[in-house]
Amino acid sequence: MALETMATGDLVVETVVDGFVGRISGLDLSAALDPGRAEALRAAWRDFPVLHFPDQSLSPEGLRRVGEVFGVPEPETPMNRGYLTEGEDAVSYVGNIHPDGTPYPFGNKRATAWHSDQSYFATPVSGAILHALRIPDQGGGTQFCNMYAAYDSLPAATKGKIENGVALHCYNAGPGGEAGPPLDEDKHGTWTPVRHPIVRTHPLSGRPALYVNHIHTYAIDGMAGTELLEELMAHATEPRFVYYHPWRVGDTVLWDQRCLMHKSAGDYPLDQARLLMRVKVAGDAPY
Ligand code: OGA
Ligand code: MN
Repeated sequence: MALETMATGDLVVETVVDGFVGRISGLDLSAALDPGRAEALRAAWRDFPVLHFPDQSLSPEGLRRVGEVFGVPEPETPMNRGYLTEGEDAVSYVGNIHPDGTPYPFGNKRATAWHSDQSYFATPVSGAILHALRIPDQGGGTQFCNMYAAYDSLPAATKGKIENGVALHCYNAGPGGEAGPPLDEDKHGTWTPVRHPIVRTHPLSGRPALYVNHIHTYAIDGMAGTELLEELMAHATEPRFVYYHPWRVGDTVLWDQRCLMHKSAGDYPLDQARLLMRVKVAGDAPY
C-alpha cells in the first residue's frame, strides 16, 4: 500500500489508493469543525471519492453533523424509515440486525449487488457516510468501484457507443437482483423510470464517470436487451477498479455516489452481528 501523506494543521490525509481512497487522521469528528478544517475535508473528498476516518465515536446526531459538512442530509426514503435512528430523520441503521438485536430479514444479503444509492430518483444523493457500530470477526466489508477509472479505460469504440447515451433506472429493476427484502405494498408505491446519462460529469471535478449500476439500471435507451449494460458492468467491476474496505468498529467512511458504485461483500458468517449507521447527502440531477 503506497502511503503518501499531506498535513493540514493537525489533520493528516494519507493516500490509500491514488485518486480513489484516502484516510484522514488527527481529527475527532464528534467535535465541532472550524471552517478551515471543514473546507480541507471537502477538498480531500474531491481528491479521494472514498474517505476513511478511523477510530471515531459518533451518535446519530453526530453522524448527521458530519453529513452537514458535505451538504444537506437527505431524509431517509419511505421504505427505510423503519430503520431510522432515534430523533434523526436522515440517519438510519444498516446491517443484519436491528439495534435491539432482532435479526434483519435479509440476513447478510442486503445490498450485495453493485449499485449507486437512489439512482432511481431524478436527483440521486451525492454521497453517503457509514459509521461502524458492530462488525463480524471475519469479512463483512464494503466494496467500492471507481467509475472514473472504469470510464477512462474503456476502449475508444465503447466510449463512442455510449457517448450521449441514456440509461433507464427504476427501483430494483436491474439484472443484479434485489437490494433488500421485498417491500410491503404500502411502502412500494409506484415507481416511475428515470433517465440518466450513461456517462455523467462530476459537478466538482468536471471529470466523466460511468453512471450505470446492477440493481437499478435496467436498460439503455433505444437498445433491446442488456448486453451492453452487462459489458459495462463487467468492465467496471474488474478487480483493478475495486477497493475492499474491511471495517473496524469506529470506522467512518464517506463515499461519492456520483463516481463510484458500492456493494456489501456479504462475506461473513450469518450468525454474526453487523450494524452500521448511515447518513446520505442530497445531490443534483446527473448531466
Ligand atoms: C449502503 C450500502 C453496503 C454495506 O449503506 O447504501 O449499500 O456494506 N451499504 O452495508
Ligand atoms: Mn447502498
